[in-house]
Amino acid sequence: MSCEDSEITRATFAVNGQPCSADADDLTLPLSTWLRTAAGCTDVKEGCNEGACGACMVIMDGVATNSCLVPVALCDGAEVTTVRAALSSSEGALVARAFADADSAQCGFCIGGMICSTVAALAGSRATPPPVRTDLPDARHGSDAQLVLDAHLCRCGGYARHQQAISTALAASPDSADSE
Ligand code: FES
Ligand code: FES
Repeated sequence: MSCEDSEITRATFAVNGQPCSADADDLTLPLSTWLRTAAGCTDVKEGCNEGACGACMVIMDGVATNSCLVPVALCDGAEVTTVRAALSSSEGALVARAFADADSAQCGFCIGGMICSTVAALAGSRATPPPVRTDLPDARHGSDAQLVLDAHLCRCGGYARHQQAISTALAASPDSADSE
């Protein structure tokens, strides 16, 4: 669905559990831009703005999604989670611990997006059925660590540590998430 095709004149959705709405003038904005400027979610980063770096990754209806590729119009009815809220889930606590234990962050710019991808992959692997969205550009499905990492670029080059953290998190048992 393109914004031009849509009958939507207002998008209503949830961000980190809070109801939000965007007016017609904002419907063609990238979700990443709207989150940062209209919703105050500066935990969402913008890097390439073309779907290549993963810095803008959020979780949309349970699926890791490059928010720079999603026009706000496509968010109508969706549940959007940024890294700030993702960290407060049981999976988020486990993933944060894995990244900290791997000493993964250098400048940290890429880490929020990686955490969103890893939380979505971990939670999705435990869901029945796993969440799927085929209407989102470049939505990420699957729980393979390399697949998760492939969605992200790190200017500091810490890929080995990132992969270690992602692998550790994805290998954790459900019980370990609950005990965090
Ligand atoms: S800012 Fe969205 S993928 Fe780079
Ligand atoms: S830790 Fe600096 S960009 Fe990844």
